[in-house]
Amino acid sequence: CGIVGYVGGQSALDVVLAGLGRLEYRGYDSAGVAVLADGGLAAAKKAGKLANLHKELADRPLPTGTTGIGHTRWATHGGPTDANAHPHLDDAGRVAVVHNGIIENFAPLRAELAERGHALASETDTEVVAHLLAESFSSTGDLAESMRQVCGRLEGAFTLVAVVADDPDVVVGARRNSPLVVGVGVGENFLASDVSAFIAHTREAIELGQDQVVELRRDAVTVIGFDGAPATVRPYHVDWDASAAEKGGYDYFMLKEIAEQPKAVADTLLGRIDAAGNLSLDEVRIPAAELREVDKIVIVACGTAFHAGMIAKYAIEHWTRIPCETELASEFRYRDPILGPRTLVVAISQSGETMDTLMALRHAREQGARVLAVCNTNGSTIPRESDAVLYTHAGPEVAVASTKAFLTQLVACYLVALYLGQVRGTKWGDEVRAVIRELSEIASQVERVLETMEPVRELARSLADQDTVLFLGRHVGYPVALEGALKLKELAYMHAEGFAAGELKHGPIALIEDGVPVVVVVPSPRGRSVLHDKIVSNIQEIRARGARTIVIAERGDAGVAPYADHLIEVPATPTLLQPLVTTVPLQVFACELATARGNEVDQPRNLAKSVTVE
Ligand code: G6P
Repeated sequence: CGIVGYVGGQSALDVVLAGLGRLEYRGYDSAGVAVLADGGLAAAKKAGKLANLHKELADRPLPTGTTGIGHTRWATHGGPTDANAHPHLDDAGRVAVVHNGIIENFAPLRAELAERGHALASETDTEVVAHLLAESFSSTGDLAESMRQVCGRLEGAFTLVAVVADDPDVVVGARRNSPLVVGVGVGENFLASDVSAFIAHTREAIELGQDQVVELRRDAVTVIGFDGAPATVRPYHVDWDASAAEKGGYDYFMLKEIAEQPKAVADTLLGRIDAAGNLSLDEVRIPAAELREVDKIVIVACGTAFHAGMIAKYAIEHWTRIPCETELASEFRYRDPILGPRTLVVAISQSGETMDTLMALRHAREQGARVLAVCNTNGSTIPRESDAVLYTHAGPEVAVASTKAFLTQLVACYLVALYLGQVRGTKWGDEVRAVIRELSEIASQVERVLETMEPVRELARSLADQDTVLFLGRHVGYPVALEGALKLKELAYMHAEGFAAGELKHGPIALIEDGVPVVVVVPSPRGRSVLHDKIVSNIQEIRARGARTIVIAERGDAGVAPYADHLIEVPATPTLLQPLVTTVPLQVFACELATARGNEVDQPRNLAKSVTVE
């Protein structure tokens, strides 16, 4: 969910609504605002996208005030209805609260409030906070102190922002887990889930730490811990360019982000491999002596980042011979994994906020493992809680379906693998030396793929009425197949599944019938050509059963061309780098299918870009 708070001299509603527009990527099931005006509190909220709230406000305007809060929601407790949208108010309508996270003990709190005569208007966990705050404020008269007391009663993950009609010049926030950033202005202050919400007003920010309460007034920002002690804060200057988060002439952020991939890849490599092929990853501040001792690597991630992690496993084990597992972050800690000081956990996350990944890394650290984050968001929680971070330089990714972040995660993982080998004195053979050389060319290969995408778009449009698309791959093509299927699910809402091509005969081949489109990611015929030949046999098996084959293969691969109903050619690369070029057509394919089916490209239904609940 996205949260905004404002106190200052401007119209709070205008500031908050503009901020919510910037945060809509965090959730867009419903949205709401509350402003303090004329001694009272006025709120509006609406299910659906922010546009619905704008319409509601046009029909029923709120009074003008200079203190306000807002929220854009990704539903957890209670469906996306008007009543369940935030802000939530207490019985008297004097306190308003917005919330990101899940309050796990909301049921007993609800029961307790009902017993004391409170009438609860929604099904959400959040509403209990409004009632508890109102009760507490009636005795403390101090919203920050009440917030602190109420937080002491809450279990789970929560970032909260509240206002009270009786103290109209104050906004209070509290943070446990999901992020909350203060924007420090002149005669005005801001609170938001991320800086993009207030970057148009100020670039001076303060990141709140875990378990802190902040009180914002026009001219003052006060931070205390949940224990009541004053907290030291770390102000910082936001140096990224707001225009990087604009669509820049593209219809969708996703199209822009797909097009930005060559630059994102080049930026992520920049300065990290020298002309002699040596890696310098100074920011990976884990002592070389410790890296030499590592005897196991575990990669944890979710969604698209997980697919990058699956590919990383192939590279890490093949190049460094260190055993490596890749695991879904949401499964990791619950199965009591075997970890120790010689385990290196690599947590991959675009946002740096994904709760499943954060919980996995906390568990790893508790067990004594070292954690290296691969992350795209400077200063976010996952890198801050890790021993070291290697940043991907994809720039802000706004579209919910991840594209450029994925390619840069792959690059970062290759760098990690090569760096580990370098630190441990692995003698590279010709194969790895070729990889290091070709990495410096890889951005232009991605560029070449992008130049030849028109037939892929045409093909996608012709498939708009299909129900199912299957994806097959072998070796690193297997995670690419999974990623292709995920993109199609996310964007086109189609039944799409990815399989290891060799696994097909053990079950999934039963799905093949006349005309089913099957996308096959074919390994290079050079190098380990046995992989290539095996997948050519797999293609023949499915064609014999009526499949329509869409083959992604290296340019000039004559061995596979006869079996392709549609051939998508990509430039030749070393096998392990191939996902950098084979994924791109799948992104374009899914994006175009979504458009052809009339779906929202940047904000697919039911999804959110940063999922800050477990
Ligand atoms: C969400 C997004 C996915 C993303 C995943 C992991 O589910 O919708 O696109 O891959 O989170 O996000 P992260 O920020 O940790 O990479």
